[in-house]
Amino acid sequence: MKLGIIGAMDVEIELLKEDLELKSEVKQANIKFYEGNLNDKEVVLVRSGVGKVNAALCAQILIDRFGVDKVIFTGVAGAVDEKLDVGDIVISIDTIQHDLDATPLDYELGEVPEMDKIIFKADEELVELAKEAGEKVKESGEDIKVIKGRVLSGDQFIASVEKVNWLREKFKGYCAEMEGAAVGQACFLNDTPFVVIRSMSDKADGSADVDYPTFMKVAADRSYQIVEEMLNNI
Ligand code: ADE
Repeated sequence: MKLGIIGAMDVEIELLKEDLELKSEVKQANIKFYEGNLNDKEVVLVRSGVGKVNAALCAQILIDRFGVDKVIFTGVAGAVDEKLDVGDIVISIDTIQHDLDATPLDYELGEVPEMDKIIFKADEELVELAKEAGEKVKESGEDIKVIKGRVLSGDQFIASVEKVNWLREKFKGYCAEMEGAAVGQACFLNDTPFVVIRSMSDKADGSADVDYPTFMKVAADRSYQIVEEMLNNI
């Protein structure tokens, strides 16, 4: 079993990279893929870069070139559900691209035209493993909530109360980020199980631009802890 682990930014993969017993480093599409072992599991770790295009092509390369069997996305997000605070964790039940809008052509908001798809569902087993890992991290003393919910993705940094309210009402989203649903769509098309694990760096409201740089590192490290814990049982 080979696992693909993606983070969008350096801060989201740096601790995993430190723990990785590196076997080889391969570059494709200007993205570096790190092959090796992590907690005795065969993994390919990669920093995709930010946004849906980077994330989708990175997932495709992981599947085609490296033959990964499953994909985990780790990183930070803006909280959309009102229960969530900075530092809390969302495990994706499913993902939607909130910025995909062909409604003038009578498609639903978020629907990929001619694909009959709005929602890309995460793998139930990976979701359970991530949730269990989150609970373990919580038991180890971290004061956090670990919630299963919908991850919303778009090529936008969300930083307004109006927009975050709209995302909550329209899509029943739990958090907003910029990659998960693109990985979801790529994995769906390749029949590859995936899960997105996100720790909240901000509340996607008027303070998001200030909170994000302040809390991003702590949040990214929380998500890392869960991935590491999850690797024990995968
Ligand atoms: N990643 C972290 N915070 C985010 C936000 N508010 N919007 C989009 N992506 C994010």
